[in-house]
Parts: sequence; C-alpha cells; structure tokens
Amino acid sequence: EKGGYKHFMAKEIAEQPAVLGDALQHYLTDDGLNLPSDLDFSNISRLTLVACGTAFYACSVAKYWFESLARLPVEIDVASEFRYREPPLPTDSYAIFVSQSGETADTLAALRYCHEKVAKTVAVVNVPSSSIARESDIALPILAGVEVGVASTKAFTCQLLVLASLALKAARDRGHMTEAELKQHMEELRILPGLLTRALDLDETLNIVSNDLSEARDVLFLGRGAMYPLALEGALKLKEISYIHAEGYASGELKHGPIALIDSHTPVIVFAPHDPLFDKTVSNMQEVMARGGKVLLVSDRKGLEIASEGVWQTVQMPEVPDLFAPILYAVPAQLIAYHTAVAKGTDVDQPRNLAKSVTVE
Ligand code: M6R
Repeated sequence: EKGGYKHFMAKEIAEQPAVLGDALQHYLTDDGLNLPSDLDFSNISRLTLVACGTAFYACSVAKYWFESLARLPVEIDVASEFRYREPPLPTDSYAIFVSQSGETADTLAALRYCHEKVAKTVAVVNVPSSSIARESDIALPILAGVEVGVASTKAFTCQLLVLASLALKAARDRGHMTEAELKQHMEELRILPGLLTRALDLDETLNIVSNDLSEARDVLFLGRGAMYPLALEGALKLKEISYIHAEGYASGELKHGPIALIDSHTPVIVFAPHDPLFDKTVSNMQEVMARGGKVLLVSDRKGLEIASEGVWQTVQMPEVPDLFAPILYAVPAQLIAYHTAVAKGTDVDQPRNLAKSVTVE
C-alpha cells in the first residue's frame, strides 16, 4: 500500500502533482471557479481563519492572498487559543476552519463557538464525513486522498489550493479583480502540478543536503511575505519527524533576537524565490553569513545568479508565479524534513508522541 515507497510520507509527497491536479479539476472549470454561489464575499467585513499545526500555516499563507487580492481584513489564530479567547466576531463576517482530519478537537470547538456569531462557517477538510465538515454551513473538500503519514504533506498543498481559489473568488466578488486577471491567475494555478513534478526531481539533491542537516542540533528557517509561514511549516515538519530543534522566523525579525543563535553549527534554510521581497531577504541572509552561519538557499535561477556567493548550499527551484510560490516551495520543505529524518533513522510515519488526529485537547 506504500506503492513502492519506503514510507507513506514519501508516497504522499510524490502524490502531490496528481492530487493537486484532481483539486484543480474540481475547483477550476472552463467557466470559472467552481465554488458555492451563496459563498459571497462582497459584503463581508472580515474573514477569520482557524486551524492547528500545518493547517494553521496554510491559513497563514492564505491571509496574504485574501488581503492582497481581495483587500479583505483577515484574522488568523490557532484553534486552542481562539476558542478560549472567545473573540468578538462581526456578524457580517465569515469564519473558515481548515483541518485535514476534520476531527481536531480544538478546531471543532472553535467552529462551535462561531455558530450563530458569523454569517457563515466554512470547512476546508480532507474527510467530507468528518465532524467539522458536517457542522459547518459549507464544506469544501481538499481532495487530497487518504493521508497516512503523521506529517501532513499533500493535505497542506491541497489546502493551499482551495484557499487560493477562495481568495480569487473573494477578489472577484469584491471588485478587485477583472475577469481577465482571474483567468490569468487560474492559468498560474493550473501549471502548478507540472512545477511540483519538477521540484520533486530535486529529491536526490535534497537527500544529499539532508545528510549534513541530520548532524545539526538546531536549524533555522527564514522567509518573508508568504514565505514566512512556509518557514514555520518547514521548521514544524523537521522537528516533528527528525526531532531536531528547528525554528521558523520572518527574516526581518532576525536582528530582533534570533541572530544571536547563529554560529557555524546552525544551518539556516532560506526560502527566497526571486520576487519583489528577494533583495530584503538576501540582505538578512548576508547578515547570517557575516556571522559565520551556513546558509542553504532555496531559490530560482535568477535568485541564485544574484545571491549564491558565500552560500553553503543552493537548491534551484523552477520559476513560479510569485503569488503561488508557497505551494511549490512546500515540496523542498517536506523533502528536507523527510530525508533528514530518514538519515537519523527515526520512525518517519509514526513519530514519537504524535497522533495523526488530535481528537482530545
Ligand atoms: O487534522 P488537522 O489538519 O486538523 O490536524 C492539525 C494538526 O494536528 C496537524 O496539521 C499536525 O500539525 C501535523 N502533524 C503536521 O504535520
């Protein structure tokens, strides 16, 4: 059932082009976006996104999309904080709950808190028969197929795809996107499976790099903009399956404390596609190198041409439309964690102390 792979996680990482393709086929049709018409963002004042773990990082990426494309104010929180914070919620707002299993206790409690307080609750789930799906006004399947590995991989990229489609709808509904712009963004989404296939070809390169990473005691991940939540996701993935201490930071936050951790034993992984924020991230990366830090730079051809000097290792990603880069860069984040864990000999699919579905708080 592992389909020739050593672990479910490896199989699920490799399945991403196919399952993303399925989700694309469902949500993007020739006539436009296939989303419920009663999910209308035109008159809402705010969006609240709630989830745990990796699903929360998907929400964190989506915040950038909803704000930049639809000019819609977005609040995000982890479910365990949200539910006890009992925040005031505008009645003219929507709340979206993202969960692979659809059974996460805190996310379910957060959903129940929102009933009757917001105009609509929306579930973005992998299991359509789950509690979170059943109890929401609208349930949108991510169509990732069964995910067995405790480390969430294909569910993350499929969650991002559904959230990206929602952000495009919100932008259209609110008059911030023309039909032509929508079409263009839909084309950008449609090329993702092909780009992910190319990113998966980096498997051997990342395997070699990960051998060195497996010796580290601490690893830092850096990113800016929507690459910041991806840095957090990379760090979570690495710590949960390799047991190496890892932290993700917004690269601009480095000088506010974490730069004190830098020494020649602490690898720093930088996710930096050549986008409008590239120069800023590179200058943070140079601050790391000036202090003896060894940097693994994950970027594209243009980025590496500009910024490879003095870098410990480079990983060349395919070029990708800026907006949807987090979906592509999830692949190296996952493969780094996977190969590092394999090098350390941990139980990749069933790491210690963790459960696939956290149904108790
Ligand atoms: O089933 P859910 O998406 O609600 O689960 C949320 C988290 O427990 C989950 O993403 C967890 O962080 C993963 N093990 C991360 O790889």
